[in-house]
Amino acid sequence: MKILVTGGNGQLGSEINKISPKYNYNWVFTGHDNFDLSDLKNINVSLDIINPNLIINCAAFTSVNNAEDDFELANILNHKSVKSIAKWCNYNNCRLIHISSDYIYDGNSKTSINEDAPTNPINNYGKTKLLGDIACSAMNPDSIIIRTSWLYSSFGNNFVKKMINLMQQKKQLNVINDQIGSPTYAADLAQVILDIININHWKPGIYNYTNKAKISWYDLANDIKVIYGFNTIITAITTKEYSSIAKRPKYSLLDKTKIKNTFNVILIPYKDSLKKCIKILKNET
Ligand SMILES: NC(=O)c1ccc[n+]([C@@H]2O[C@H](COP(=O)([O-])OP(=O)(O)OC[C@H]3O[C@@H](n4cnc5c(N)ncnc54)[C@H](OP(=O)(O)O)[C@@H]3O)[C@@H](O)[C@H]2O)c1
Repeated sequence: MKILVTGGNGQLGSEINKISPKYNYNWVFTGHDNFDLSDLKNINVSLDIINPNLIINCAAFTSVNNAEDDFELANILNHKSVKSIAKWCNYNNCRLIHISSDYIYDGNSKTSINEDAPTNPINNYGKTKLLGDIACSAMNPDSIIIRTSWLYSSFGNNFVKKMINLMQQKKQLNVINDQIGSPTYAADLAQVILDIININHWKPGIYNYTNKAKISWYDLANDIKVIYGFNTIITAITTKEYSSIAKRPKYSLLDKTKIKNTFNVILIPYKDSLKKCIKILKNET
């Protein structure tokens, strides 16, 4: 089986790449240099040439703030390219696992959000990701869509690496304490994706996946501090006290019951995964 991973240089794509040698598939990893998904006219041509049996679509416009200024490009990458990929998959009998986000919700929920909850994105990134999910399901009803949140990894840019970097330089930091969610170690999500492929029990639909947690960014920053061994003073602040171009959902805790029951996924406590990632990052420095 030939598996194409788009966004192969990103956090999730790199984690899939890392574990790919354990699996006897014909792997193709693409980045924006060798398969530019903003070139919509070329998507079919490139897919015809690669001719995969399964696509894991990790590519996306992921800068939430930049998406406020560039809806058009965010929409091309998070929506229109997904539509083309899903359409190609449907015509070519290719399976598709597409990655989506907790930012498709408005954050007003008081309890963990399941896959059937009403969507109402509050920023351009969320709007374009939601349009991508809708197009993905419409063009290829056989797709699996996995919605995740607060992704981090030893690869790429993310909150964990940003905090480590800041704690190396600063004695004091302000971190938001009124946005609640769960971090997701991209290595865990990569493994879940491979497990879903391997159990050979394809069940299309939308699934939530994150690590096991219900925390704020402030809580996460404190855990990073303790696990890494910094002395930085971390002060809890509210969203209102932090200037950000894009609005962020206040509560985006995803309910993972469906993925657990359908694919026997075991949820990993976030601190276990955070420790693993920090160990890798410490060994790199
Ligand atoms: N990061 C989060 O906190 C988060 C949270 C929830 C959901 N998600 C979703 O999870 C998925 C994976 O996210 P991630 O954090 O791994 O993303 P990431 O590290 O930002 O990587 C995104 C990848 O998209 C690729 N890309 C950007 N523009 C492209 C273009 N024009 N053509 C082809 N590829 C292009 C980039 O390729 P190059 O490296 O080659 O430029 C990059 O490797 C995405 O669908 C994202 O929306 C992420």
